[in-house]
Amino acid sequence: MPQDRDNLAGTVCWQSPSNIALIKYWGKHGDQLPRNPSISFTLKHSFTQTRIHYRPKTNKDQQISLNFQFEGKENKGFQDRIVQYLQKVMDYFPSLQKIHLEIDSTNSFPHSSGIASSASAFSALALSLSDIELKTSGQDSPIELFNVSEIARLGSGSACRSMFPFAALWGKFNSIESSTDRYAIPMGTEVHEIFRTFHDSILIVSRESKKVSSSLGHSLMDNHPFAEVRYRDARKNLQLMLDALKVGDIESVGFLMEMEAMQLHALMLCSNPNFILLQPNTLKIIDLLKRFRSEMKIPVFFTLDAGPNVHVLYPGENAQVVQNYIQSELLQFCSEQNWINDCVGDGPIKIE
Ligand code: DP6
Repeated sequence: MPQDRDNLAGTVCWQSPSNIALIKYWGKHGDQLPRNPSISFTLKHSFTQTRIHYRPKTNKDQQISLNFQFEGKENKGFQDRIVQYLQKVMDYFPSLQKIHLEIDSTNSFPHSSGIASSASAFSALALSLSDIELKTSGQDSPIELFNVSEIARLGSGSACRSMFPFAALWGKFNSIESSTDRYAIPMGTEVHEIFRTFHDSILIVSRESKKVSSSLGHSLMDNHPFAEVRYRDARKNLQLMLDALKVGDIESVGFLMEMEAMQLHALMLCSNPNFILLQPNTLKIIDLLKRFRSEMKIPVFFTLDAGPNVHVLYPGENAQVVQNYIQSELLQFCSEQNWINDCVGDGPIKIE
């Protein structure tokens, strides 16, 4: 379709959240395809907001033309990663050959909080780019979220799960027909209402950026002696998790979520080379949390990503007592008493 130069200028802005995996994606192959299916809760307050101003390019080459700012400042590392990504997704977005992009991205959480931001960042970017393509090509059909999820996956695997409210599953799983390795699917209707009330208090044990990049982390699975056992176990855990999520069995969800977190770190401990991402304060918090749970008989559980910070998950009705405990007993083990009080959320929103 011929493009009117007027269509080639405008602004779009999307806000997209991070997510926390209950069954972990660890190990990938091909072009960002997962070795096992994973499921996550979509978060609410930990998000990236990406604003893109676009206008016709002044030169006629077909290269990416981009100026990227993170939190109002140029950032060479991020700029390079985004250029690489835009080159990769050029086939989905032919307009990228004709427009110059000014991207401004901000996170709701401090960059130095040790929170992985690639899920929120690439989901917000994929949504914004899809919106631009829609506008510049003059189509008026709405954006197909599955396609956007697939495009986000090409930037960061876990980003494809941030596209949907409440909960999302990514990766082919035989008992769910619509599941695929290409994109995530929404799981909101398959999960009991109680989990909509769930909080995720993220205790920041360290604010340092990741010791092991995601790509290096996933590659540790390539020759891992326990790889096949892990992929089989993840599938078994996923089926148990889905059953428990469906009926609102909080205890089983919590038990499985903790097992997954520990398995992820156990895999890293015996990878070649090995990595210890847990810190003494991570273990201290986990130990105290388990004691608190058994003394108070409160359903409160933890999970971890590939780092030392502890995600504490619990139902809304226990929020007051758990948060009091976090503040009085656990924050002393956090870096400068930092924590992010997040909860399950409704997915990305377009900012007009
Ligand atoms: C431990 O999605 O960050 O958080 O695809 O290389 O960008 P890339 O990896 P990434 O890996 C996330 C790993 C995890 C588990 C999970 O979120 O499922």
